Amino acid sequence: MVTIREEKITDIAARDVLLDAAYGASRFAKASERLRESRVPADGLSLVAVDRGRIVGTVRLWHVSAGPGCAALLLGPLAVDPAHRNRGIGSALVRRAIARARLAGHRAIVLVGDAAYYSRFGFTAVRTAELWMPGRYDRDRLLALELRPEALAGARGLIAATGAFAPKPELNMLIAANDRRSRQARVQRAA
Ligand SMILES: CC(C)(COP(=O)(O)OP(=O)(O)OC[C@H]1O[C@@H](n2cnc3c(N)ncnc32)[C@H](O)[C@@H]1OP(=O)(O)O)[C@@H](O)C(=O)NCCC(=O)NCCS
Repeated sequence: MVTIREEKITDIAARDVLLDAAYGASRFAKASERLRESRVPADGLSLVAVDRGRIVGTVRLWHVSAGPGCAALLLGPLAVDPAHRNRGIGSALVRRAIARARLAGHRAIVLVGDAAYYSRFGFTAVRTAELWMPGRYDRDRLLALELRPEALAGARGLIAATGAFAPKPELNMLIAANDRRSRQARVQRAA
């Protein structure tokens, strides 16, 4: 059975392997990544899907402003292990993330993604016509969901990161993380 829970620090290596499989190296070139790098995600809004002890899905939400003075969250990256797709895991992660964000009093969520997928959760481009992401992205893929009525009414300008800065990792921590990730990838390939 698949369960959705908050991400723990010990999930990070498996999550990285999952994201590498879903997006490859291009994940670091995405416009959304410019809003996530060096920041910590919003509290309680990093979720993973776990199947028999294994991380099979991930989603995170991040603090941004949708134009000056308009607090919102950015959703992403969302990924599900290729072997576990089309079982409703991606939808369960997004729905849980939305519900938790609403409960925590957040006002709106923006993302860059396929409208054909995200429209089922209520995301549309209606409120994003006057918003811009940093870097290159496809305008049709900039979508938003209001958690409070009119939360993005009049939203205009650059979407900017507003989350707390992540502590700078030390070199030995980066090397250890890279080793953990290689080990995890080997285990998953062998499974
Ligand atoms: C997108 C993703 C998270 C969906 O996860 P999932 O667990 O398979 O999703 P669900 O089981 O909840 O939903 C599956 C449905 O979404 C549809 N779907 C999946 N990706 C889609 C996309 N990019 N555009 C439109 N529909 C999509 C499937 O065809 C399926 O449709 P159906 O319900 O009519 O059969 C997963 O395919 C993934 O990790 N993809 C690679 C990373 C990615 O592209 N992430 C962001 C999406 S913009």
